[in-house]
Amino acid sequence: MLSSNSIVGVGTGSTTNCFIDLLAEIKHTFDAAVSSSDASTHRLRNLGIPVLDLNAAPSVDVYVDGADELNDAKQLIKGGGAALTREKIVASAAERFICIADASKRVTRLGGYPLPVEIIPMARSVVARQLVGLGGRPEWREGVVTDNGNWILDVHDLHIEQPEAMESSINNLPGVVCNGLFALAPADCVLLATPDEIIEIE
Ligand code: A5P
Repeated sequence: MLSSNSIVGVGTGSTTNCFIDLLAEIKHTFDAAVSSSDASTHRLRNLGIPVLDLNAAPSVDVYVDGADELNDAKQLIKGGGAALTREKIVASAAERFICIADASKRVTRLGGYPLPVEIIPMARSVVARQLVGLGGRPEWREGVVTDNGNWILDVHDLHIEQPEAMESSINNLPGVVCNGLFALAPADCVLLATPDEIIEIE
């Protein structure tokens, strides 16, 4: 439930864009948004929703974002739009993380979608070799620069049996800024859209 003091965390991507458009219709019921990307910030401001820097937000009531893949433990792969690092930061600041997605994103095992990893540019080759050592096939998303000035490796063919351990292992590689597994801190709730209904995974 939002109030006049509420701050809403906003993710990135085509699903979140639909959420932003709906949020604009109730913009007088909350104080401001914090955003996970320059793209979402532009969309929010164009619709008249004030956007705060996260450092100026005393708290974030709720964070709403999409996902590229999700399992029934509400663990996610995110970062198809290259905004994974800021997404994970804003999600971590929020009291509640609600993931919105269509039912095609639900899987029994994460890893069919290539795992995005944000890296410091000078570390591209060294991190890529380490990712091969973890069983993956990294591919440089050439030409893409994140909002933080970094690069993305998309890691194919990872066998993610233990998502929490994989998230930690990749984050521990020097040169990695963040990876798109949201397993250590999964969503609190997933709202899955099917053609007929909304399924809630609590
Ligand atoms: C952005 O970096 C991503 O994490 C998105 O949340 C994710 O890719 C889902 O995007 P769509 O809603 O466009 O499928």
